[in-house]
Amino acid sequence: SKPKILVARAVFPEIIARLEQHFDVEANPSDTVFTKAGLIERLQGKAGAFTTGSERIDAEVLEACPDLKICANMAVGYNNFDIDAMTAAGVLATNAPDVLTETTADFGFALLMATARRITESEHYLRAGLWTKWGVDMFTGAEIHGSTLGIIGMGRIGQGIAKRGAHGFGMKVIYHNRSRLDPALEAECKARYVGKEELLKTADHVVLVVPYSAASHHTIGAAELALMKPSATLVNIARGGIVDDAALAVALREKRIAAAGLDVFEGEPVVHAALLDVPNVVLTPHIASATVPTRMAMARLASDNLIGFFEENKPLTPINPAVLATK
Ligand code: GLV
Ligand code: GLV
Repeated sequence: SKPKILVARAVFPEIIARLEQHFDVEANPSDTVFTKAGLIERLQGKAGAFTTGSERIDAEVLEACPDLKICANMAVGYNNFDIDAMTAAGVLATNAPDVLTETTADFGFALLMATARRITESEHYLRAGLWTKWGVDMFTGAEIHGSTLGIIGMGRIGQGIAKRGAHGFGMKVIYHNRSRLDPALEAECKARYVGKEELLKTADHVVLVVPYSAASHHTIGAAELALMKPSATLVNIARGGIVDDAALAVALREKRIAAAGLDVFEGEPVVHAALLDVPNVVLTPHIASATVPTRMAMARLASDNLIGFFEENKPLTPINPAVLATK
């Protein structure tokens, strides 16, 4: 008989149909976000899970779901997985890298531009009927072309944003990362490696694309915001928790930085109330990878990981491949 899997959130019908060719699928057409208890209940007897980032897979879940062998995340980030606990339990984790890189870099750049040029703030003004006359300094923003772009986290998405900035907008690109890129990649991105403090002090725009971990928690807090230029903008397309949202709301209200663009939030989908109260922030609901072709490619890759794992012990993008060797 076919292995039993749970598809934890509603995904495209084509994807469910494809999975049904290989698995006995429990889907979630009502798109309920499961509580931990609800998730554990639905994972009983399941050998695999198609997850999306809203399901936390930790030691408690693993212990309660002994049949589970693989969780395939439909996301490049996987901070919803306790990888050490999964490896200890012999459960494979996979993510969905690469297929979303350019789409997510596009969005990072869109959010940067919307933030620097005050696009949503001025639209709210117009919609509110407040536009009665043209004004010489109405909604003046920050330059994008020719300015200094600072990227924290120079993975594939960070590199995509660097290329857009350097090649498309003549920006000077500086970056900070755990490790330096090799010189050929640095040249391709026209990006110069700097320390975090230098980046924060000199960038006109700071974009965060670093994976979330205990080590990257609050990469940007009050101290880092204080280093930034008062004219600077900050963009977070990485994960909630990379920025201290409460400290950011204070910095925005006091104009210690000019503006921020945020696609991800601490505790999302709840957004810190103080951020909803300041005008100089662009807020989007975690949509950086949201185009139909890219979301479809992410879902297909998660499915291919499940199929590859069960049929050939060959998932495409394993995070903890050591688990495979012990099979
Ligand atoms: C989305 O946030 C992802 O990690 O793919
Ligand atoms: C994320 O890990 C990336 O691809 O930048």
